[in-house]
Amino acid sequence: MKALIVGASGFVGGELMKVFGDDAVGTYCRTPAPGLIHLDITDEAQVRDVVDRIKPSLIIHPAAQPNVDRCETEADESYRVNVVGTRNVAAAAARTGARFVYFSTDYLFDGTAGPYAPDAAPCPIQVYGEHKLAAEHAVRETLEDHLIVRVCGVYGYHPGGKNFIMGIIAKGGRGEPMNVPVDQWGTPVLAENLAAAVKELALSDYRGVAHPVGPDYMLRIDFARVAAEMLGFAPDFLRPLTTPELRQPAKRPLRGGVDNRSTQAMLHTRLLGVSEGLERVRWQMAAHSR
Ligand SMILES: NC(=O)c1ccc[n+]([C@@H]2O[C@H](COP(=O)([O-])OP(=O)(O)OC[C@H]3O[C@@H](n4cnc5c(N)ncnc54)[C@H](OP(=O)(O)O)[C@@H]3O)[C@@H](O)[C@H]2O)c1
Repeated sequence: MKALIVGASGFVGGELMKVFGDDAVGTYCRTPAPGLIHLDITDEAQVRDVVDRIKPSLIIHPAAQPNVDRCETEADESYRVNVVGTRNVAAAAARTGARFVYFSTDYLFDGTAGPYAPDAAPCPIQVYGEHKLAAEHAVRETLEDHLIVRVCGVYGYHPGGKNFIMGIIAKGGRGEPMNVPVDQWGTPVLAENLAAAVKELALSDYRGVAHPVGPDYMLRIDFARVAAEMLGFAPDFLRPLTTPELRQPAKRPLRGGVDNRSTQAMLHTRLLGVSEGLERVRWQMAAHSR
């Protein structure tokens, strides 16, 4: 088995590279890293060339423009990367007979009734969600052997990275104020646990939608407070604000998140709750500072 991980220079892609090890070849677009090959997914011919050269039996595609507010203000770019780019990679998988794994999001939903089951009807309320939904449709139309993994609130110890936990570590460490919404629910997942679960699903013959996220359904502010406490920061740097007070360009689903129960039932990998996940982050943070 050879896997091609498109977007290996990203947060999730980097964790996938670790779990696949020598069985994977990874790509970057604007952020070069040792061992990764260049690929811009918006260039159909380049996608075809790379896939023909690597000949993967499995293509995993976490590459995206995942910045929700940027997608709102730069909708053409979002469409090119999130929809056209995904279609290009799915088409290359279809042409070569590779199995295809697409990373999607709980932002497909309007946030009135989360956490959402895999068969819930999508109803996006911002450009990012509309484009991720259009990409899901493109995947389904392009090839049968596909897996769509919808995730939410990926966190992990990732020095130099920009995920929520790294924000807490940076701002908590400096005592710098950090705005956190008090009204957004989600189902956080530890990145390395997500990667292990996705590997297991990718190597199975399951086709369709899966939700490999953690079992805890919680408010972002509660997650932030638990994380601050577990990582040793006094929580007074956290500034609780409502979503309207945050004045972000894109709307947010409030009761978002995805329900992991049917996915957990398929897996040997145990999807970790936040206390176990954050314990792992604490351990990695301590090991890094030694
Ligand atoms: N992180 C979360 O909490 C979360 C939540 C829900 C869903 N998701 C989904 O999970 C996936 C992974 O997210 P992430 O947090 O790992 O994002 P990320 O860290 O921003 O990584 C995005 C990746 O996409 C690549 N990329 C961007 N434009 C590209 C292009 N034109 N051609 C080829 N590659 C391109 C980037 O490469 P360069 O950096 O080299 O340019 C990078 O490797 C995304 O599909 C996202 O929508 C994430």
